[in-house]
Amino acid sequence: MAMVRLQRAGKRYGDVVALHEVDLSVEEGEFVTLLGPSGSGKTTMLNLIAGMIAPTVGQVFIAGKDATNTPPNKRGLGMVFQNYALMPHMTIFENVAFPLRVRKTPEEEIKKKVAHVLNLVHLPQVANRKPRELSGGQQQRVALARCIVYNPSIILMDEPLGALDKKLREQMQLELKRIHTDLKITMLYVTHDQEEALTMSDRIVLLNDGRIEQMGPPDEMYFKPRSVFAADFLGSSNIWDGTIESDGSATIKSGDKMKVKPEAFAKPGTKLKVMVRPENINVIRQGDDESRFENRVNGKAIDTLILGGVIKHYVQLANDTVIIAQELTRSGRRSLTPGQDVRLAWRPDDSLPLPAVGKIEG
Ligand SMILES: Nc1ncnc2c1ncn2[C@@H]1O[C@H](COP(=O)(O)OP(=O)(O)O)[C@@H](O)[C@H]1O
Ligand SMILES: [Mg+2]
Repeated sequence: MAMVRLQRAGKRYGDVVALHEVDLSVEEGEFVTLLGPSGSGKTTMLNLIAGMIAPTVGQVFIAGKDATNTPPNKRGLGMVFQNYALMPHMTIFENVAFPLRVRKTPEEEIKKKVAHVLNLVHLPQVANRKPRELSGGQQQRVALARCIVYNPSIILMDEPLGALDKKLREQMQLELKRIHTDLKITMLYVTHDQEEALTMSDRIVLLNDGRIEQMGPPDEMYFKPRSVFAADFLGSSNIWDGTIESDGSATIKSGDKMKVKPEAFAKPGTKLKVMVRPENINVIRQGDDESRFENRVNGKAIDTLILGGVIKHYVQLANDTVIIAQELTRSGRRSLTPGQDVRLAWRPDDSLPLPAVGKIEG
């Protein structure tokens, strides 16, 4: 049974459509991320589910029951926001105990439960401190503890790690995943950060201008985007204008012809885009066997960026088309010098045709 279901639910404010009619089903124990640029409707969708706002059209179901008119505190949901708002004058213990006190839980049980969840978020030693005596990351973990202490069956989070620095954010991502796995809670998570979405989710729902652009598991979203928008939003990509030839290959702007993955919509003469992920483009060095790559082009190196574990090469083809090739950084591997001739190669299966406008339906 779906824990959360939106049925043709939408929200408008006067002339502004914050969310067009959408259908969404979240299964028990699933970790679903709502991803999209600012203003795409993520918060609106989450708030419809939370009951913070009412849909203009459609229905909201929680655990199989129509909850469209159920107030937020009767929906059995937990919420964690970006500004986690702990109560400053209360100790951490009292902050976490608060939802239990509201529910008139007996004192003994409160003690047990608070100790348990503080353990879960790896903060057993801070119960007597005040929020200001903790770091931002620790406060965020307390907010999470306060949310899970009363065993909500669903947790909603709106950019909960937005205020943390990169290292702390990555640490918290792993911790949220662990808690999700340990407690088997259904989680609905909002972020505009594609990497965060790819790391954490069972399923990603990509929003574009108040509509669901595409949804699916992370690897599918990454390797089989159905539109330029999805390809572009999830990771970096090489995207070129191209035309399909009668043999099914595509000619791109530089004049180079390449084999592409067959797609039903890509009939001869179709003007479209061709997308190749930078990590699928191989820099051919002396002695490399290039025969397993059917697509090969020559260009000149213009720049190289070392980003820690990966390295990005910018290579220019005959008429200004630039290709980004990404390799793992390895000591001893020869770098490219600007101006040097470079041969690049990649597989037809990694060359995805995409519609110039809109998306592949179905
Ligand atoms: N209370 C409101 N009144 C008018 N427009 C709103 C209101 N809330 C949101 N919107 C508009 O709806 C769209 C989606 O907003 P939101 O769901 O907050 O996006 P996101 O969370 O993806 O950044 C935006 O264009 C936003 O300006
Ligand atoms: Mg938002």
